Amino acid sequence: MTDIPTFTSKTIIEPFRVKVVEPLPLPSREAREVALEAARGNLFNIRAEHVTIDLMTDSGTGAMSQDQWAAMMRGDESYAGARSFFEFERVVRALTGKKHVIPTHQGRAAERILFSVVGGKGHVIPANTHFDTTRANVEASGAEAVDLVIPEGIDPESLHPFKGNVDVARLAAFLETHRGQVPLVLVTVTNNSGGGQPVSLGNLREVRAVCDRFGVPLFLDAARFAENAWFIKQREPGQKDRTPREIAQEMFSLCDGAMMSMKKDAFGNMGGFLVLNDDALAVECRNALILTEGFPTYGGLAGRDLGALAVGLEEILDERYLEYRIASTHYVWDHLQKAGVPLLSPAGGHAVYLDARRFLPHVPSPLLPGQSVSIALYREAGIRSVEIGTVMFGHTQPDGTQSPSPLDLVRLAIPRRVYTQSHMDYVIEAVIHVHEHRKSLGGYRITEEPKALRHFTCAFAAL
Ligand code: F0G
Repeated sequence: MTDIPTFTSKTIIEPFRVKVVEPLPLPSREAREVALEAARGNLFNIRAEHVTIDLMTDSGTGAMSQDQWAAMMRGDESYAGARSFFEFERVVRALTGKKHVIPTHQGRAAERILFSVVGGKGHVIPANTHFDTTRANVEASGAEAVDLVIPEGIDPESLHPFKGNVDVARLAAFLETHRGQVPLVLVTVTNNSGGGQPVSLGNLREVRAVCDRFGVPLFLDAARFAENAWFIKQREPGQKDRTPREIAQEMFSLCDGAMMSMKKDAFGNMGGFLVLNDDALAVECRNALILTEGFPTYGGLAGRDLGALAVGLEEILDERYLEYRIASTHYVWDHLQKAGVPLLSPAGGHAVYLDARRFLPHVPSPLLPGQSVSIALYREAGIRSVEIGTVMFGHTQPDGTQSPSPLDLVRLAIPRRVYTQSHMDYVIEAVIHVHEHRKSLGGYRITEEPKALRHFTCAFAAL
């Protein structure tokens, strides 16, 4: 017996330890200048070996666990009916409760399959906010994609706890005026394009009720369903005693089907799924899948991938992991906020977004403030982020100027189980350093661009 009170730590520690290490690239400032020059200012053109901390995306960039690697070894590579598929199907079905489980090589493959079947000219797909590949696949089918997020969802300073919520009144009015034109309603959890903001269970229940009233199916874009479930547990009255799994199961029970990029909340480096209950729709989707993805029991994935994804989809719902995950994103947001760096609020689940317009008030939107901040972070500290603003969503007008997008953000997306707290401290220091010297940052212009999705390949020059 001792008199020492029970130790409770204020620090939320990483609930894993490191078994395999990958050297961190530490290019010199001169080397980074050379890389930037060769990339013509486009960070997508920088080789990963020249990047110290890569926050371009949290997609496919996570670290797998020992159990996932063990599942890789057990992978069954049979063309049809592989054991790994049945393992995958069992885990996905236990979570989503859906009858048909269709594996796909990533999220956008599920989008293409679903919208090639239910989309098409004359159809409209409402969502809180469509992710860009979702929108692109809706539009490629000939249908129209419409965003109906609540007004707080597009206000970067609003502290609403569920900024990903659908504006239910607008949805009801929309379904009323578009009777017969809406094959499904889509809700993205968390709302990536709106800053990784969650959707509440209450909102999902209301959306379900509206869909029932109009006889329209409801689908989830579930790429970050576990982070969304954790936010519900933390923020929604009456939810704190439930497990993330129970909450996630209720989220899936409220919809008729779901698509998921398993490169996010399944710790996969590759993978996705489409699940649904409708038998006739499932037949059509499987036929569309066979055309480009492969046989319906592998959907473009190796058997070992299916095995690792099945394990990852269970691990992601571990409370210790989710507590650490959301706390570590919040840690970065909190330190930057306290240092006066302008941010999108509150912190998202998978990313921290810098508000480049307030970060560089002397660089107007058409002069690409987000690109300027993003380039400075790479030049000064080897950090790779992504501009989500005028470069991504604006376009060049006939007079050569840029039409601005509603927001100019820089996303710092945090890969899962990859970086430690000291890596994040380095990121915080670097962002504060660039912010302190913001007056010396100028604007950029686009010197060359393709017709579509220009942000991936266009070239920039400093003004
Ligand atoms: N839906 C959401 C909400 C996403 O964030 C993504 C991908 C997709 C669908 C498409 O999935 O990449 O597996 O084909 N988001 C990544 C990102 C690319 O960086 O946010 P995918």
